[in-house]
Amino acid sequence: MKRILTFFCFLALPAWANAGYVPGMGEIMGATQMRHAKLWFAGKSGNWALAKYELSEIEEGLDDAVHYHPVFKGTIQVSKMLGKFTSVPLKSLDAAIDAKDSGKFESAFDSLTKGCNSCHRAAGHGFIVITRPAALSYTNQDFTPLGK
Ligand code: HEC
Repeated sequence: MKRILTFFCFLALPAWANAGYVPGMGEIMGATQMRHAKLWFAGKSGNWALAKYELSEIEEGLDDAVHYHPVFKGTIQVSKMLGKFTSVPLKSLDAAIDAKDSGKFESAFDSLTKGCNSCHRAAGHGFIVITRPAALSYTNQDFTPLGK
């Protein structure tokens, strides 16, 4: 009986209460910035397992941006722009990580950063300029590869 009552209470809720949480574009981007920094230090530390993980988290975040904000603020064609600016560098990063190749990793990382900034400019947000991180801001995480 209790269960049935709960069910009917749920049905009575307004539509917005069931809509669920939608992450804002700025929130997705903030998380992407954190992962971009971690990806760099994972690669620099030769922690390829962590680099692979951070790369896939970046990809998931960008997929979320397309899913939740295919057109941002009415004019910014996020779904088209993301592929245009990031798909090639993301593929190169994946290949560099699989090959455990530091040189290729660095250049693919810089291409991704360029892609971030080109998209920001194209989206009228050219004032958001991403760079190679100078220092690791996460002092509570060990980037040493396992077993070293
Ligand atoms: C669709 C093209 C696009 C790509 C590709 C893109 N961004 Fe963004 N980014 C945006 C837009 C649009 C905003 C503004 C969001 C807002 O106004 O809420 C933004 C905002 C940001 C912000 C500001 C967030 C804040 O609250 O301070 C950061 C940081 C950021 N992006 C990082 C990145 C990084 C790192 C990458 C690359 C890995 C990247 N972005 C790739 C479109 C893009």
